[in-house]
Amino acid sequence: MSVVSVIGGQWGDEGKGKIVDYICRDIDLVARYQGGANAGHTVYINNKKIVLHQIPSGIIRENCDCILGNGMVVDPIGLVEEIKLLESFNIDVEDRMYIAFNSHIVTPFHKMIDKFSESKSKKKIGTTLKGIGPAYVDKYNRTGILAFDLLDHSNLNLKIQSKLSDLTSQYDNHDFDLKEIKDSLDKFKECCEKISKYIKDGFNLLHERYKSNSNILIEGAQGTMLDIDHGTYPYVTSSSPTSGGISTGLGFPGNQVNENIGIFKAYTTRVGEGPFPTELNDRFGEKLRKIGSEFGATTGRPRRCGWFDAVAARYSCKLNGFTKIALTKLDILDEFDEVLICNSYKIKGKEYSNFSEAQYYLNEVEPVFQHFPGWNESTYGKKSFEDLPENAKKYVLLLSNILETPIKIISTGPKRNQIISI
Ligand code: IMP
Repeated sequence: MSVVSVIGGQWGDEGKGKIVDYICRDIDLVARYQGGANAGHTVYINNKKIVLHQIPSGIIRENCDCILGNGMVVDPIGLVEEIKLLESFNIDVEDRMYIAFNSHIVTPFHKMIDKFSESKSKKKIGTTLKGIGPAYVDKYNRTGILAFDLLDHSNLNLKIQSKLSDLTSQYDNHDFDLKEIKDSLDKFKECCEKISKYIKDGFNLLHERYKSNSNILIEGAQGTMLDIDHGTYPYVTSSSPTSGGISTGLGFPGNQVNENIGIFKAYTTRVGEGPFPTELNDRFGEKLRKIGSEFGATTGRPRRCGWFDAVAARYSCKLNGFTKIALTKLDILDEFDEVLICNSYKIKGKEYSNFSEAQYYLNEVEPVFQHFPGWNESTYGKKSFEDLPENAKKYVLLLSNILETPIKIISTGPKRNQIISI
C-alpha cells in the first residue's frame, strides 16, 4: 500500500499527466484535490493525444477509480464533454468516477464574470477564463453551489435564480448579454443532471481504500508557483496546488502521504501574466517554445519559456517536501550548445539564493546563470539513464544536487514508454 502525490513544481504545465499515467500502472485510486477545468493534462492512448481538464488522468487506466475532491471547482458542461471524449476512446467512467459532495460548481455566471474582469482589469492576470477565480470567490463568500446541491433539483433552481438576480443587480445590462446567459443556463442544467449520478461520498471512498491498503495517487493540477498562498501573488490561481492543499482539498491527512513527487520540466515555462525571472525573450526562448511545442493545453496560448530556475525550484522543494523528482522534457534541450541554470537572483546589486526573500522584487531580478555544455545528441525516447549522453547525465545529477532531492524519473518524449526510471 502506498499513497503518492504528484505535484507541479513550477508554474504548471510540467507534464504531470504523463507521469500520473506512468505511476498509475500500479494504482487503484486517483484523486484530484484542487483547481478545475483550468488544468490541461495531456496523455497519449495508442499514440493518440488526449487532454483531460477535470477528470484525473488515471481514468485512462482501467484499474483506476477516480475522485474529484472537495477542494475542486467542477464545471458540469466541461465534464460532460470530457466524459464523451473518453467514451470515444472506449473508456467508460460509469461507476469509476466520484464527484465529492462538497466540491463547488462552476456556473456560466462564473465564466462570464471571469471574462468580464479580465477584459476590464488594468492589471490582467491572464486567467484561463474558465470561471475558476469567481467560483472560489463564491466558495469563500459562502454563496457557492455545492455538488451536493445538484442532487435536489428544486434547491438547485432556487440557487441558480438567486445567482441570476445577484448578477443582474451587480452588473450593468451592457456588461453581459442576458439572452446568452439564459441560453447557457439550459445547457448548464442539462449537464448538471447528467453528472448527478457521479456525485457520491468521495471522502468515505478515499478513507475506506486507505484502510484496505489500496495504492492511492493524489494528482495536483497547476503548479507550486501558482499557489494562492505561496506563489507569485496576485499572478496565481485561486487554489492550493502545493502538498498542503491535499489535506484541505481531500480531507486526507498529510502524514498519511508516503511520497510527494515533484514534477519539473528540464527548463521553465509560464502562461499568463506575472513575473518570470529566467524568461528568454530571444531566439533561445523561441527555440524552446518551438521544439517543446509550448502552447497551452487548455487555451492554446503560447507559453513563455526560459532556463531552469533553481531558486524557485528549491523553494518549491521545501514548500512541498518533495521526496523525489520527475524531470520532464529533457529531450527538448538536445539541440542546445549550452544549457543554463539560474542558481541565484541579483536584485539592485545584491545576490539572493532564497526565493522567499526575493519574491517581492521579482520584476527587478537579473538572473545569475551558470553555463553548462549541452550534449548535442538525441535523448529522445531513451529508456535508461546509462544510455544518456554524458553531459545530459551531468545536467540531471547537477539539478538533483542543487535541489537536494533525488531525480528518480526522467521523461524523454511524449509517449508512454519514453521514460527512464532510476
Ligand atoms: P485561472 O486559474 O484560470 O484563474 O488563472 C490564473 C493563472 O494561473 C493564469 O496565469 C493562468 O495562466 C494560470 N494557470 C491556470 N491553470 C494553469 C495550468 O494548468 N497550467 C499553467 N498555468 C495555469
